[in-house]
Amino acid sequence: MPSRLVICAELVDPRGRLGEQCLVIKGERIEGFREEPPGAEKVIDLRGKDYMVLPGFVDIHVHLRGLGQGYKEDEYTGSRAAAAGGIVLVADMPNTVPRLDSIEALVAKLQALREKSLVDYMVYAAVPPSPDEAERLVSVPGVAGFKIYPRDLEERAKSVDKILSSNHLVVVHPELPEAEKPVAENEDTRRALRDCHWEIAAVDYLAELSPSTRIHITHATCPGTIRAARRHGFTVDTTPTYLFLEPGNDCLHRVNPPIRGLAEKQQMLQLLLGREISLVASDHAPHSPREKTGDPLLCPPGVPWLEHWPSILYCLVSRGALSIENYLELVSLRPAKLLGVTDLGLLEPGYRASIVVARETHSRTIFNYYSKATLTPYMLYSLQKCLDVAATIVRGRIVKD
Ligand code: DOR
Ligand code: ZN
Repeated sequence: MPSRLVICAELVDPRGRLGEQCLVIKGERIEGFREEPPGAEKVIDLRGKDYMVLPGFVDIHVHLRGLGQGYKEDEYTGSRAAAAGGIVLVADMPNTVPRLDSIEALVAKLQALREKSLVDYMVYAAVPPSPDEAERLVSVPGVAGFKIYPRDLEERAKSVDKILSSNHLVVVHPELPEAEKPVAENEDTRRALRDCHWEIAAVDYLAELSPSTRIHITHATCPGTIRAARRHGFTVDTTPTYLFLEPGNDCLHRVNPPIRGLAEKQQMLQLLLGREISLVASDHAPHSPREKTGDPLLCPPGVPWLEHWPSILYCLVSRGALSIENYLELVSLRPAKLLGVTDLGLLEPGYRASIVVARETHSRTIFNYYSKATLTPYMLYSLQKCLDVAATIVRGRIVKD
């Protein structure tokens, strides 16, 4: 007999505030709702204390690393950071060492996730050298689709064509390979050389290659990229880094595509609030503290902040700019749908019991406690009235409390 877990608090999902009720979990699934807690093995009664029960967050763009890069992050530390942030499902990127462009590498990666991950996971396959390999890669259970990087457009063009003529989910880093080539003398010139037009051109280029595939443009940084994606019928996400973070000349602020100026960020925010952006993801990209204190122009790009981004985005809700329903669509329901997961994102009987217990915090200071990548540009940011995750439950199992 699967055991029952009951949590009583204010229930909220993308359909709205459902009032103070008790959510009954049986085994891995939501069983139903009650006004009063029924007899159960475990009852957590948080009524009258401002706690909310929300559908668990889904992050479609993370780098948990592992395999040959376990010194940067691994499937345990990365998934623990996810759980701390209220994330119940991650989709992991294939630019690992080795790249996930072969069955062997995918199998090894999925095995590491199975053994170490605290949260649910999927992975993307990288574009393989041979077009004939592509179908085999996506037939591996747990593979959500493909990730296309700018260099693939040049170096693996035939395989890209093959993938784009299939009906699989294709997540695209929107820059053309030429954007990666110029060598800049400082971060300002790098940002100028690698500007918005590369992103928009990449989106238009993909539309020319493939009018029909399920293309998702990830980590868009520019308003024009969002508009181009929408024009072509693609889904598109951004990361809150491109909404909130100021550019900086140190390695911690080095990320690809680069952080843009205030004008772009303001328009991106307007597009988000105007519901033009399909969903939000983190692009959690951990590197070791040693790497991130190296030469700003040679050090690896990426911002690690898996345990914090849902909380930071929630600041828009507590400030009255974004409704909680829209927030939950952006961080839970739509990302789940993109991955083809149809039993996540709502508090609904039969759905996965993958939920978050959280409340608005008064004030909190950011520090990466769980990721191996302790250095983040958000370090020591002070969050006023944002989200505090008290517990994360994945398929009925408490993975953070
Ligand atoms: O800044 C970035 N870091 N951009 C990418 O496309 C890759 C990522 C990483 O894996 O570190
Ligand atoms: Zn990435």
